[in-house]
Amino acid sequence: MQPTLVWAGGREVDLRQLQLPLPIDDLAPGDGAWEVELGFGKGRYVLRRAREARGERLLGVEIAAPYYRLARDRAARRGLHNLVLVRGEAVYLMATSLPTTFADAVHVYFPDPWPKDRHRKRRLFDSETVDLVLGLLRPGGELCFATDFLEYGEFVGSLLAAHPAMEVEVVEGAWPEGPRTNYEAKFVAAGRPVVRLVATRRSAPAADLLHPAGRPGVLSAPRVER
Ligand SMILES: C[S@@+](CC[C@H](N)C(=O)[O-])C[C@H]1O[C@@H](n2cnc3c(N)ncnc32)[C@H](O)[C@@H]1O
Repeated sequence: MQPTLVWAGGREVDLRQLQLPLPIDDLAPGDGAWEVELGFGKGRYVLRRAREARGERLLGVEIAAPYYRLARDRAARRGLHNLVLVRGEAVYLMATSLPTTFADAVHVYFPDPWPKDRHRKRRLFDSETVDLVLGLLRPGGELCFATDFLEYGEFVGSLLAAHPAMEVEVVEGAWPEGPRTNYEAKFVAAGRPVVRLVATRRSAPAADLLHPAGRPGVLSAPRVER
């Protein structure tokens, strides 16, 4: 099994050498707001944000080791000290290792849609992970989401809209700065439609923090399909 690695400030360590929840403020010191990207791929968005918004701090999670290494090496060459990169499985990390209610923004772009019913459990964003993902956001924070899989985009829009503490906006056309990630650039160039959503977390009474349709189970034994 591949180790879960954490890169920050030019140093890489195994997650097991660090205290939990991950001491992100020690890994990237400062007082800048935090943004998180789950499944950053080749890192186009997280690297650009870290370079352009030096006052902010970025945490990126990616499961694929080659992509993680690519982004890590680029971050090291660019001397980005406001960036923490983690090679690991995002759902496991959210459930076990990441702090909660710390992020001003969480970005999830073109997550694998797993269209077949029997594969849905592998989705990075679904009813079973919604509380973990939204739990990263501080009140007032935003979840930015995009997909080219329109049915999945519609599902995610409805899932977010059903949360009493979330306000959902469909972004028409494009992000103000143009495509954010490699997948988005590729789909836009090919003329494929893309669903883009921004969901803002309102301050909410404790009773409204969990999604009414949120489900446990993603970290438990696989369900038996009948
Ligand atoms: C379709 S690609 C999109 C990459 C990038 N976000 C983009 O828009 O260009 C999905 C990415 O999510 C990563 N990924 C999928 N499941 C993941 C998980 N459970 N934890 C972390 N990363 C994951 C994949 O390795 C892949 O890099």
